[in-house]
Amino acid sequence: MVRNIYEGKKFPKVEMPSCPIERKLKGQTAIVTGASSGIGKAVAIAMGHAGAQVIVNYNHGEDAVYKEVIPEIQRCGSKAIGFQADVSKEDQVLAMFAQAKKEYDTVDILINNAGLQQDAAFDEMTLAQWQKVIDVNLTGQFLCAREAVREFKRRGVRKEISCAAGKIICISSVHEVIPWAGHVNYASSKGGVMLMMKSIAQEVAPYRIRVNSVCPGAIKTPINTAAWATPEAEKELLKLIPYQRVGEPDDIARVVVWLASDDADYIHGESIFVDGGMTLYPGFATGG
Ligand code: BGC
Repeated sequence: MVRNIYEGKKFPKVEMPSCPIERKLKGQTAIVTGASSGIGKAVAIAMGHAGAQVIVNYNHGEDAVYKEVIPEIQRCGSKAIGFQADVSKEDQVLAMFAQAKKEYDTVDILINNAGLQQDAAFDEMTLAQWQKVIDVNLTGQFLCAREAVREFKRRGVRKEISCAAGKIICISSVHEVIPWAGHVNYASSKGGVMLMMKSIAQEVAPYRIRVNSVCPGAIKTPINTAAWATPEAEKELLKLIPYQRVGEPDDIARVVVWLASDDADYIHGESIFVDGGMTLYPGFATGG
């Protein structure tokens, strides 16, 4: 039997600070798309904790935005507003950027997060399922990135705020490189995000606009509940994760805040995988 070496011992109680992230983004304005749940929600809160004022974009999930995300950002002393917009619709994206500028004068950071899955076997996938996923995951990121670049170029660098004129972080996926049967629309959209991000990065670098992606692996969010919510499902999923734990939204949020900060000023055009090793071909640990 394994002895519990901690049993019966007294340890000091450690209180987590209530706004744990250093205020590295003070004075900056961030738009976070798809921020009513999952990764977007965690990122919006972390941006606020880091001192940014946040435009909390959502299409659905208004309740969570106004009852959880915005109050938590305000609790830590940062400002936030909610804005409903479908990122795949050009007029709605333009309206969101106009509102952000009206409210906070300019935009410094775009977190291109809004995304969805509509899974189907390839030969059963409807054009509507294909189109919807491409529209939101890829065209939505294009529309928001284009508005952000227009604003960053117009305003230029303000040294007292950041070394860069602006930062764009695309939330991609391990599936920008891992093919995914039954999810052809989704993997295609994320493969598209990869080269969209890198091509924009190449084009706008001289304006000191930084463009990167964060590529999450399996993170516990509503998009993939079926993959981790039961012990059996989680056991199966862990076969794909060498680090042997399913990720949490905060695992992504912390990296996003750092990547948006001047600490990461020389990182440009990169896809940063935050996946517990999912992209390490774990099957080869025993096979091959
Ligand atoms: C998908 C999840 C999936 C993960 C790893 C993500 O991009 O949205 O559903 O669990 O990739 O496969």
